[in-house]
Amino acid sequence: MSDRSDAPTSVIRLADYRPPAWSVEHVALEFDLGIDRTEVAATLELVRQADEPIRLNGEGLELLSLGVDGRTLAEGEYILADGVLEIAIDAERCTVNTRVAVHPAENTAFEGLYLSGSRDRGFLLTQCEAEGFRHITFFPDRPDVLSRYTVTLRADHDRFPVLLAGGNPDGEGVLADGRHWARFVDPHPKPSYLFAVVAGRLERISHDYTTADGRAVALHIWAEADVIDRCDYAMDSLIRSMQWDERTYGRNYDLDVFHVVATHDFNMGAMENKGLNIFNAKYLLADPDSSTDDEYRHVEAVVAHEYFHNWSGNRVTCRDWFQLSLKEGLTVFREQSFSADMNSAPLKRIEDVALLRRAQFPEDAGPLSHPVRPSQYSEINNFYTATVYEKGSELVRMLAGHLGQEGFRKGMDRYFERHDGQAATIEDFLTALGDANGTDLSPYLAWYGQAGTPRLSAEGRFDAAQRRYRLTLRQRTPATAGQTAKQALPIPVRLSLFDQSGKALPLRLEGEAAAGATERTVVLDSAERGFVFEDVDASPVPSLLRGFSAPVILECDYVPGELAILLRHDPDGFNRWEAGQQLAGLAYDDCRDGNVEGSALRAWTEALTHLFNDKGVDDALLAELLTPPGEIELVERQAERDPDRIRIARQAMLRKLAQRIGAEALRARYAGLRSETTAALDAPSQARRQLKRRVLDLYALIQPGEARELARAQYEQAPGMTDRLAALTTLATLDAHAAEAAIAHFRQRYDGNALALDKWFAMQALLPGADALARVQALEDDQAFMLKNPNRVQSLLGSFARANPTGFHRADGAAYRWLADRLVAVDSLNPQVAARVATAFNGWKRLEPVRREAAHAVVAELASRKDLSRDLTDILARVAL
Ligand code: ARG
Ligand code: ZN
Repeated sequence: MSDRSDAPTSVIRLADYRPPAWSVEHVALEFDLGIDRTEVAATLELVRQADEPIRLNGEGLELLSLGVDGRTLAEGEYILADGVLEIAIDAERCTVNTRVAVHPAENTAFEGLYLSGSRDRGFLLTQCEAEGFRHITFFPDRPDVLSRYTVTLRADHDRFPVLLAGGNPDGEGVLADGRHWARFVDPHPKPSYLFAVVAGRLERISHDYTTADGRAVALHIWAEADVIDRCDYAMDSLIRSMQWDERTYGRNYDLDVFHVVATHDFNMGAMENKGLNIFNAKYLLADPDSSTDDEYRHVEAVVAHEYFHNWSGNRVTCRDWFQLSLKEGLTVFREQSFSADMNSAPLKRIEDVALLRRAQFPEDAGPLSHPVRPSQYSEINNFYTATVYEKGSELVRMLAGHLGQEGFRKGMDRYFERHDGQAATIEDFLTALGDANGTDLSPYLAWYGQAGTPRLSAEGRFDAAQRRYRLTLRQRTPATAGQTAKQALPIPVRLSLFDQSGKALPLRLEGEAAAGATERTVVLDSAERGFVFEDVDASPVPSLLRGFSAPVILECDYVPGELAILLRHDPDGFNRWEAGQQLAGLAYDDCRDGNVEGSALRAWTEALTHLFNDKGVDDALLAELLTPPGEIELVERQAERDPDRIRIARQAMLRKLAQRIGAEALRARYAGLRSETTAALDAPSQARRQLKRRVLDLYALIQPGEARELARAQYEQAPGMTDRLAALTTLATLDAHAAEAAIAHFRQRYDGNALALDKWFAMQALLPGADALARVQALEDDQAFMLKNPNRVQSLLGSFARANPTGFHRADGAAYRWLADRLVAVDSLNPQVAARVATAFNGWKRLEPVRREAAHAVVAELASRKDLSRDLTDILARVAL
């Protein structure tokens, strides 16, 4: 690797932004492709924009020749240092020619041009976002340089029968010596991070699509021969995404061909390269035998996400990387809306809010916290975070809520119209949305610049004499890393008031003539504000932040009975779940404090038992309701963080729930859900599988012996992966030893199926308790384990370190030391992956003292090393602070 941290680490600041000194009108690239060595010739048409030399980024490139306007430059006529090629010239325009060599097979960082799979059978591909293009050729590698691309690929025909680049095909042919060529022209100016090529032996499935505005588009999904039959669901999802974007936003696809490629070697989820999306196979391949229902939904969502980027990201791109959420937050929001439309909206909202709480809230509360639009970075790859993506989406959701559906559509039309073909900023986005609606959205800008999760507290006071209910809302954002002063933000609070029988009241705010709807949104735009509701006959139960109308933590001292009313009666599935989560939090507190007769615990188990027996509750919603916040979220309810005690308390509350529902009822429900013999993907079948799993796990808490027999039978008879993996997990969680035969069976059954094996590794890495480390270490010896494959590293190391709190946070610190050692090894191959796994250390400071000391020693040791990548060094430096 080239970027070790002994090279000077510079901090890039938003405040220092300057427009490019030279633009690139056109770039012609010619690739002579080879696995060990690829040569890239580039012709750049440059136009001066400022009185400065030409500066081109280039890293790890072997410069073979350099010319300007047809004349070869001699050494001394340019400067090449610290990854920048500088050429001083007088002209207003010029043509720069470079020829470089790169070495794909040696590129284990998977940034730039690299080899996926084995030398003899794998294929070549590129990943350029954020700054990978500079690993391919010399170029002003920044998103505000938009250029038209002509790309010619040349390669041996037998080894590389398929040659792909973004844009429209523009000819192909045969060359001497068994070689061939293909050319692509992209008519849409684009930033370098959207450039892509793919070359190798790939199969495809195709579909002819006609856009709403009449363009015939050839859709192709490419994958290696052994998995090409698992691409149909992705194609189906792609078609639905295209139709949805036409219908919902009036956005049509804009090239004659659209390629999607699957690779098993990818650092991230997927990449929206113009006309040539590249996917981690995990988010593209799906078949019932190797994919779970959740994975089908992920494929649908990620296919949509990358497709939607064609407008939110590609046609309108980002001015600089600080604006990353401009495309990512917006695209996640679009993707979430699509999934909500395709499936169940309340369930989708539950999934998204649960993810925000599990991934983004902890990030925002620890040393890695940063605003949705950071103000500085030293390694941009470390900012593809839950904050930029998930919180960024919540901010767009608030804006959309503020404008209403029609207003938001008008605003989006204005944004796309005004900024088409440009590199825009978050201000541009807010201004376009506001202008189209004659409103000023700039107060929301504060959300983009302020890190930390705001605490929203609510206090209600009922005045019987005046028949009034006064709701006082307050906000406060705790200090975060490097940002101590916080300001008040506009917080939209959607609310309803329920009477004690669970009926929603029509709402009339003080000063209004007549009562209106039973739900409305008030905005808290200062530290504190009171809202007075008139004509209230009895003390109501407020339902606040409905639909999770703002990404905040609600602090409201509900008594358990009030939450139980909401949990039983709220007509909205999401709000019902949310009331259940709040109540579960209180029930957890009871268990944690050893208060097994606590009123919250009783209210929670009673309300859920009632819902369990209510045949009107949807299976999938019931499964969600039966799932309290996870061990990672519950950390927030602890002063001293001891993962073992959190797990014990959480298991205790679940056992109470199982007892209250009763073994008989659980067994009967399981039997009723059992009958399935196919792995049909319709929503009711998926819902049944999900509920079945929850019911079996609850049953296992009180009848482990019988549950084991049921799980064993379910494993053997499972028609698809969802049931099979669930049963295996239940068996292994009950007793990993006793599950050995089933674990071995799965391993053998799926030998050679990388994505199924990833789940096999992850399932075991997630088994709780102090034995987990030994189990993970044993798995490292499995033939199929390899540090050079990011999915494998994530499935074993990542799952263990980031999602198995009792396993990773062993009191003796052994898992910390083990991870540190592995991080160094991964880092020498793939810095981006190492940095991501290292975020597992994010919360160490708030652990109880024994674990904190152990973690501190390891983090400090690692952070002091000088031989690590910039990616990993940046994470460690911030975590260690
Ligand atoms: N833009 C991609 C997406 O759709 C993510 C690419 C991230 N790449 C990286 N090197 N950090 O979300
Ligand atoms: Zn994205």
